[in-house]
Amino acid sequence: MTGTPLWSSEELREATGGSIPEGIAATGLSIDTRSLQPGDLFIALRDQRDGHDFVAAALDSGAAAAMVDRLPPEVPEQAPLLRVADTLAGLAALGAAARARSTARFAAVTGSVGKTTTKEMLRQGLAALAPTHAAVASYNNHWGVPLTLARQPRDAAYAVIEIGMNNRGEIAPLARLARPEVAVITIIAAAHVGHLGSEAEIAEEKADILAGIAPGGTAVFPADGPHAARLAERAREAGARLVSFGEAERADIRLLDWQGTATGSIAHLSLHGMRLGLKLPVPGRHMALNALAALGAAEALGADPVRFLAALEGFSPTAGRGQRQAIPLEEGGEFLLLDESYNANTASVAAALAVLAAQPTPPPGRRIAVLGDMLELGEHGPDLHRSLAPAAAAAADLVYCCGPLMRGLFEALPPGKRGAHAPDSASLAPVLASAVRGGDAVMVKGSLGSRMATVVAALKGRRKEVPA
Ligand SMILES: Nc1ncnc2c1ncn2[C@@H]1O[C@H](COP(=O)(O)OP(=O)(O)O)[C@@H](O)[C@H]1O
Ligand SMILES: [Mg+2]
Repeated sequence: MTGTPLWSSEELREATGGSIPEGIAATGLSIDTRSLQPGDLFIALRDQRDGHDFVAAALDSGAAAAMVDRLPPEVPEQAPLLRVADTLAGLAALGAAARARSTARFAAVTGSVGKTTTKEMLRQGLAALAPTHAAVASYNNHWGVPLTLARQPRDAAYAVIEIGMNNRGEIAPLARLARPEVAVITIIAAAHVGHLGSEAEIAEEKADILAGIAPGGTAVFPADGPHAARLAERAREAGARLVSFGEAERADIRLLDWQGTATGSIAHLSLHGMRLGLKLPVPGRHMALNALAALGAAEALGADPVRFLAALEGFSPTAGRGQRQAIPLEEGGEFLLLDESYNANTASVAAALAVLAAQPTPPPGRRIAVLGDMLELGEHGPDLHRSLAPAAAAAADLVYCCGPLMRGLFEALPPGKRGAHAPDSASLAPVLASAVRGGDAVMVKGSLGSRMATVVAALKGRRKEVPA
């Protein structure tokens, strides 16, 4: 190890109020022994399992120390332990201390959909300009946000924090912890509406990201949609500078002439009246809008917009969020797999259908949509599913569905568009794997809980064996 460690004994003690032997230098943080790196401070959280049961294994694997709130089984008293009253509170305290000592400029991103994509755009675009820290995955909840903060390298110049929620009241405390100079809302849509009741309530919750905004901070909010005026009002109330983005004429960052191709976007935008080119290697108008939000945040953090946009020309999406692969078949030909399996709500399904519609399908290829249930929509679920039938029928030649809610969409399709409906993704997977043929474009989407990754795996299983 070179340079200063991420966390010294003294800093850990000061941050958490816990006790720890002298001389410990943690180079990273881990909450899971499967991904632990030697030198990490292992934090024993309680989730499905109690992390205290893994402390012995973590120390065996080279953990520098472990944060615990009781003596774990098979671990001696004199082991390198950071003993605190409560490990989740200890992690939050580390996150707060990391934020307090940081000299980086912070952006936080929330929204119903597009958070991770916008966070990744910011990360990749800002990293081209200066050292940038962001979480490796979504990590946007009560442990993900403090973990991301506490993992921040000392030399980061920019930090990007994703903040999510399932229930009312979750965003404000996380925003206070992250204390962003720039707060971004990507889009308001009916995700988790089952827990929050209405889209208006979702807009209020997302706007709570302003609870943590640093004095003189900037709010980057959508200019489009029925909640734009209320979001602007909330920004004003919080004393934030408002930068709106979208397609509306009044948008401070406005998408001008968008041209979608099968693999990306070419467009112009106006940034406070300045006309700039936008080239993105991921398809869909929704991705261009995410890029506008990211640009607004980057500019507010002091980054050069032209250099930021140039870096986005090399943007690569993460798994399950628009990755595309050509899969060669044993019988010859290949099909295109659009992996949107990571998650789904009405906005992201509509966006993914638009991307499917833009794919060329050489004969006898077909555009195939594979849709699993969108979850957490409560009483709105059945209607919201059925409402997507016209868009699905317009985008796809054939629609395959699984799950009880998608049954409603399936039955609302014209008969000629119906592929098959199955109760769950496991039973749909083999049906689909045998149905695909060369020239097809297949888009797979559904909520995480609908396990559409099973369908993606079955489709990938059609890949022609290449002799070693
Ligand atoms: N602005 C957007 N509008 C609609 N769909 C989007 C948007 N941004 C991303 N998506 C789609 O939504 C899904 C989830 O994207 P992600 O960026 O992981 O969002 P989040 O982190 O908010 O869950 C992906 O399938 C992605 O392609
Ligand atoms: Mg996410």
